[in-house]
Amino acid sequence: MKKNNSIDRTALMPNYAPAEFIPVKGKKSILWDDKGKDYVDFGGGIAVTCLGHSHPALNKVLKEQSSKLWHVSNYLFNKPALELSEMLAEKTFADKVFFSNSGNEANEAAIKLARKYFFDQKKPEKHEIIVFTNAFHGRSMLNITAGDSKIQKTGFGPLLKGFKRATFNDLKSVKKVLNKKTAAIFIEPILGESGIIRAENPFLEGLRKLADDNDCLLIFDEVQSGIGRTGSLMAYMGYGVNPDISTLAKGLGGGIPIGATLTTTKIAQAFQPGTHGSTFGGNPLACEVAKKVVEIISNKKVLTGVIQKTIKFNQELNKLSEKYNLFKDIRSAGLWICCDFKKIKAADFINECYKKRLILVQASGDKTIRLAPSLIIEDSEIEEGFKRFEKAAKKLS
Ligand SMILES: Cc1ncc(COP(=O)(O)O)c(C=O)c1O
Repeated sequence: MKKNNSIDRTALMPNYAPAEFIPVKGKKSILWDDKGKDYVDFGGGIAVTCLGHSHPALNKVLKEQSSKLWHVSNYLFNKPALELSEMLAEKTFADKVFFSNSGNEANEAAIKLARKYFFDQKKPEKHEIIVFTNAFHGRSMLNITAGDSKIQKTGFGPLLKGFKRATFNDLKSVKKVLNKKTAAIFIEPILGESGIIRAENPFLEGLRKLADDNDCLLIFDEVQSGIGRTGSLMAYMGYGVNPDISTLAKGLGGGIPIGATLTTTKIAQAFQPGTHGSTFGGNPLACEVAKKVVEIISNKKVLTGVIQKTIKFNQELNKLSEKYNLFKDIRSAGLWICCDFKKIKAADFINECYKKRLILVQASGDKTIRLAPSLIIEDSEIEEGFKRFEKAAKKLS
């Protein structure tokens, strides 16, 4: 057995490169390792722990639900799933929701739904999906096909058929690949893994019009951008452009695995009994927690807080960038921030931050770091985090 890095010393497959320390406890935006050292968490579990760690209200509903009912199968209704679906339908463009366990599965369901919708309309030729440069949708066969990362595809072929790629933010390139076979345009309204790059408003509006004019569906992957991350419950709300189908996961459970595929009543008819499903999807435990997450995040105060905290984060980052000549660019969409270093390697900076007890994550590109903290991170936690950030910057600049 190789013993070069931390994961080689474990029985876990070596597909990740985790830090040396092991967090064992978390509260708000602080994690503690098994030696009692505290870490400020600016990574938020990659945009998952939107209410921080051990939020008392989430703990309460999780404990209560865990002593009532965990799992019943999809042969039976369960109240948390019914109520969560109603909440999402009430708060978004959608009328109907399919629950799964991850972003991958939510996207898989979205694409299957679009194809089946046209199949049921006796238009089976409409099966092509338009996807985009720099996209990331997950690691299933479907999602690596839809995504645009070479390393994520290499060695995993053959990939799926029926996907055409257009250039992000370039409507002309979409028109070039759109044809009578197009079932859907599948896009992240804001590219997450590729470094917080916003679709421009006219581009998304243009996609909406193209979809309407050409009898195809517009699907938004909001796995990372949804649940308050950008300062609105879902990013599409900030654009004022409604999709036909949208996916959620990550922040939806605040740390409990859950995915959701949202759509309209008309399109949802394509999923009749037997056509699609998930053993764990929509289980009462995850749905009860997600209900509380959605309730808290939908609060205007929380969403306004996201905008205020975004300003604070940007001020701090700009200040440190000036002082230590750090960044070429800082991009944010709410509390979802990427910084491109001029010289420093992101992995080196992240490692230095671990030493200073601060957690950040990387985005694609070896010079880009990403911050996706809790949406209710406190001022004192932000200040402490940036003290540690500055120590790392001082060391490496
Ligand atoms: C935009 C987007 N879609 C889909 C996924 C995949 O989600 P999961 O890892 O929960 O399957 C991710 C994960 O990072 C994502 O950022």
